[in-house]
Amino acid sequence: MANNKRIFIETYGCQMNVYDSEIVLSILEKEGYTPCSRLEDADLILVNTCSIRENAEQRIWGRLDRFMQEKKHRKTTVGVLGCMAERLKQELLSHPAVDLVAGPDTYRELPQMLRNLENEGDKQIDTRLSMRETYADIEPVRTDTGGVTTFISIMRGCNNMCTYCIVPYVRGGERSRDPHSIVREARQLHAAGYREVSLLGQNVDSYLWKNPENPTETVNFAQLLELVALVSPDLRVRFSTSHPKDMSNGVLYSMAMYPNICTHIHLPVQSGSDRMLEKMNRKYTVAQYLERIDKIREIVPGAAVTTDIIAGFCSETEEDHQATMDLMKKVRFDSAFMFQYSQRPGTKAARHFEDDVAPETKTRRLNEIIELQSAISLELNRECVGHTYEVLIEGTSKRDTGSLFGRTSANKVCVFPALGHRPGEYVNVKVESCTSATLLGNIVK
Ligand code: SAH
Ligand code: SF4
Ligand code: F3S
Repeated sequence: MANNKRIFIETYGCQMNVYDSEIVLSILEKEGYTPCSRLEDADLILVNTCSIRENAEQRIWGRLDRFMQEKKHRKTTVGVLGCMAERLKQELLSHPAVDLVAGPDTYRELPQMLRNLENEGDKQIDTRLSMRETYADIEPVRTDTGGVTTFISIMRGCNNMCTYCIVPYVRGGERSRDPHSIVREARQLHAAGYREVSLLGQNVDSYLWKNPENPTETVNFAQLLELVALVSPDLRVRFSTSHPKDMSNGVLYSMAMYPNICTHIHLPVQSGSDRMLEKMNRKYTVAQYLERIDKIREIVPGAAVTTDIIAGFCSETEEDHQATMDLMKKVRFDSAFMFQYSQRPGTKAARHFEDDVAPETKTRRLNEIIELQSAISLELNRECVGHTYEVLIEGTSKRDTGSLFGRTSANKVCVFPALGHRPGEYVNVKVESCTSATLLGNIVK
């Protein structure tokens, strides 16, 4: 059903958005659109957006101005998808470049919206959120070129209401996807040559599927992990994000039991101060967080733990900041995503708390956090030197075409001479040296 139209899709934000863009491509390929890699060639330009921090949105406004220039010298349609579409609705639609606005639960409506636009010429908008949509039956078009690792979305939305966070407002309530469709997708990927899948959710530990025909039949996250691990011993399984208040020992036992479930947990702590954690509505204390860390290290020895940290949340004092640094020293995270607090309109924090940490203080605290983390990452990587790890080869090193890169089970990036090996293979790599971000080594037997 070719319509000879070319589509260019640009994706911002988290891995969920990458996955969603692949769902959108799949829906539109069935309508005859073919993907293209240059904006200048596209009849339809889509931008899948993120609202998590203000600067994420700022970038999108800049892109819309760029698309406007494109429209000045040729006919092309521009659509805004995703979280910012959901948050700003009409405000985005009134930008002169924008023809269409679609929220994250309305992608099945895109073909109809595009037809309406073509036939009637009116701008189109649909930002309804759904309590059921999981796109379970849609097979995403994989756009990553490597063909070795990819994502599977296992749930959508979030019910947690951390006070700083926009996600529950733009992604809607939490819903878990049918496990059969998840396992089917993992099998198809394995058959197509993929060797690693990452299961995605805002809080994977609260995954819970109830069979609509028989509500007593349920599948929780620990069980789902097992089901996916059983697809094949040479298909690695990763997952993200774990929530400290919900991560169960059951998940850790599943990890310990199956060698193909990777020994890495992303467990965002956000702050090392109990007062901040309470104010963030994270529903755990530092002591409870540390107890989870101990359990991880007891049940899955050698597991890497990574985290997210926010610097400068409302009313954060120097002591609160020090408490975060102390926690980082105690836990020694393998790596971290670190951010300055950015107030998001409509969230509880925006409505009730003052964004009162001065911007320069936020920046200084963030820099201290980044510096500390980078020293810890380097120390931990140095401890890997001399050891041998199984690495799944993902591709050719960008810096040196004679070298390959891949990751260890603990998610450490390794670079090593190719010696005739290829992406998709498992090799043992002996680490010879490192930086804070990369292990360098050689393939050994
Ligand atoms: N669901 C995941 C994280 C989703 S957002 C979880 O609960 O951990 C990814 C990260 O962005 C968060 O962990 C947090 O550290 C950061 N983040 C979210 N809202 C933010 C805001 N308003 N300002 C700064 N960072 C924020
Ligand atoms: Fe946001 Fe909290 Fe949900 Fe994560 S768990 S998406 S931080 S509300
Ligand atoms: Fe992801 Fe950004 Fe939306 S982090 S869920 S794309 S707000």
